[in-house]
Amino acid sequence: MSKEKKTTKTETTTEDDEEVVIIDVKEEPELTVEDLPGVGPATAEKLREAGFNELLAIAVMTPRSLADAAELGEAVSAKIITSAKKLANIGGFISGSSILERRREVLKLSSGCAAIDELLGGGFETQSICEVYGEFGSGKTQVGHQLAVNCLLPKEQGGLGGEVFYIDTEDTFRPERIAQMARGVGMDPEVALERIHVARAYNSAHQMLLVDEVQRASKNIDVKLIIVDSLIAHFRAEFLGRGMLADRQQKINRHMKELKKLADVNNALVLVTNQVMSKPDAMWGDPTKPVGGHVIGHASTFRLYLRKSKAGSRIARLVDSPNLPEGEAKFFVTADGLRD
Ligand SMILES: Nc1ncnc2c1ncn2[C@@H]1O[C@H](COP(=O)(O)OP(=O)(O)OP(=O)(O)O)[C@@H](O)[C@H]1O
Ligand SMILES: [Mg+2]
Repeated sequence: MSKEKKTTKTETTTEDDEEVVIIDVKEEPELTVEDLPGVGPATAEKLREAGFNELLAIAVMTPRSLADAAELGEAVSAKIITSAKKLANIGGFISGSSILERRREVLKLSSGCAAIDELLGGGFETQSICEVYGEFGSGKTQVGHQLAVNCLLPKEQGGLGGEVFYIDTEDTFRPERIAQMARGVGMDPEVALERIHVARAYNSAHQMLLVDEVQRASKNIDVKLIIVDSLIAHFRAEFLGRGMLADRQQKINRHMKELKKLADVNNALVLVTNQVMSKPDAMWGDPTKPVGGHVIGHASTFRLYLRKSKAGSRIARLVDSPNLPEGEAKFFVTADGLRD
């Protein structure tokens, strides 16, 4: 398989006297017929013998014609075509109505807190990246834990009925907390923990590799939520100094693109957290701005800014949504989880 790599410089902006160069890295995935879910060696051989070496060639067939050509059952062919359509790099323009059709598949994940769900137009949307940012202790990790639990719930109960991959960069994932929150929604804690897959990322390169790992796992597991908590911590520690800035931004940009691909292919939600500094810091600029600056903002569909408020309450503010008004929701972090 030949791997084509195109790099196009798409944007240069200057913000907070940081030169932010956004590089659009388009990488053709090295997928072959063997990568299709449910296709074993025998089926793969049949497909290849019939001349179907590329996913695109399969994606454009009808179940009947593929069944005839490759001597497969029609139901199997239909499944293979559906998967090929998902995985093939089809490209090109699509009509507004097909975007609408894809949008119809969007699912909404409840936070368990009516005010936050309402702020988000019914919950956290799949096929999107949501960035949750705020100061330390503002509740970002709590939101991550709660969504991990809720994702496991059936759709009728505000969940996504699928499994969770949690990339933990700061060693703050707490199974005990998951257990508490699971009990809070009436779920067996052990069942919940079984379906939340956690990996500790040791550095930014490892963090990026773990996204590939989720991609591989998603062939056998119905992944509905991917959490990266925190997205930025490793990058921030490793890429110090002005000279490293472009490199850092490019890597984060690439990381975000890969996460977005996971969200799209799996009709899943990606949740990333990002810290804002409480104290101004020469290197990182404006204290009220999220650390990753421009790149993360561009790539995420929703941005929620969390802050502590009066009497132990917290405020979530929706910032920059493509189709929802800005607004705020008040919530509490309780032993059982997020509550109104
Ligand atoms: N079991 C619990 N019951 C009630 N509140 C809790 C519980 N566990 C955590 N909290 C609250 O959540 C807060 C921690 O929030 P969280 O860890 O989500 O912050 P964060 O935004 O992720 O911070 P950081 O930037 O340091 O990662 C605690 O200060 C506490 O107020
Ligand atoms: Mg945290």
